Amino acid sequence: MFRDFPLFPEQASTLAPGVDGLLFYLLAVTVFFSVGISLALAIFAIKYKRRSPDEWPAEIHGSLALELVWTIIPMILVTVMFVWGTTLFFSMNRPPDNAIEVNVVGKRWMWKLQHITGQREINELHVPVGRPVKLTLTSEDVIHSFFVPAFRMKKDAVPGRYNVAWFQATKPGSYHLFCAEYCGTDHSRMIGRIVVMEPAEYQTWLQGGPAPESPVAAGQKLFVELNCVTCHRADSQGRGPVLEGVAGSRVKLQTGESITADESYLRESILTPAARIVEGYQPIMPTYLGQVSEEGVLQIIAYLESLKGPQPGPGTAAVASAAGKP
Ligand code: CUA
Repeated sequence: MFRDFPLFPEQASTLAPGVDGLLFYLLAVTVFFSVGISLALAIFAIKYKRRSPDEWPAEIHGSLALELVWTIIPMILVTVMFVWGTTLFFSMNRPPDNAIEVNVVGKRWMWKLQHITGQREINELHVPVGRPVKLTLTSEDVIHSFFVPAFRMKKDAVPGRYNVAWFQATKPGSYHLFCAEYCGTDHSRMIGRIVVMEPAEYQTWLQGGPAPESPVAAGQKLFVELNCVTCHRADSQGRGPVLEGVAGSRVKLQTGESITADESYLRESILTPAARIVEGYQPIMPTYLGQVSEEGVLQIIAYLESLKGPQPGPGTAAVASAAGKP
């Protein structure tokens, strides 16, 4: 009878069993206490009903045993919730290093996806089974939310920032993708699917179609077209910092503060360059807000990340100073 009325989506990712397990645990604790408290309420109401106006209950002066029981047992129950929940939260938010990277841009009302190898997709994502896939999400307009119930994965795509999510599919198939944040008229139609394929099949899919331009190549092109290259090069007399190796390294700002030049900082520096200037430079760079799409920004960042140049990152800095160079 309930065959066509599934209460639970399929479990199709490595994280799904853990999420469901925690949900069932929370559900069990909730049901146990709701039923227990309601039952006790009903029984006590009958058993201890005041039968005559001059009936007074005996005074009770506490019970150490009872107080210990109702302190210790709930403490254990909520500690399990906390540890289990935190562990899951961390594993959900830390993509493995060997993950396939996909950029996701939400836009009213579609999902635009690009693989690091260059393939573009709209409202569809092809991935191999058994490999972690890391998503970097942002939005071109309003907040959207990338939701794949079968993977127990949901992450907001927020304009102006990068959110990261990941999953590893455990069985081939086609799974629903939803937008889970009301984003306007066609929100309910902002849907798609994740196609999980056997690795060999995935390789064939990757090679099908015209050879795509990788985000790195597209980013390099933009870097020239937008004239970034004019100032960001070694012989520009210090107009702009050289960008080799800057992605992911520590940079010192004018304010004296040190930060990691992560994807969000790089994005900010492209769109609102004056926000956080690197020490030793003037705020002369114009904004590129409106001149480059969110996809373009992601491509430029991919290009910058591919530049493993002479500029010291945190690791190489130590080597350089050990060798006696500044
Ligand atoms: Cu996009 Cu709802």
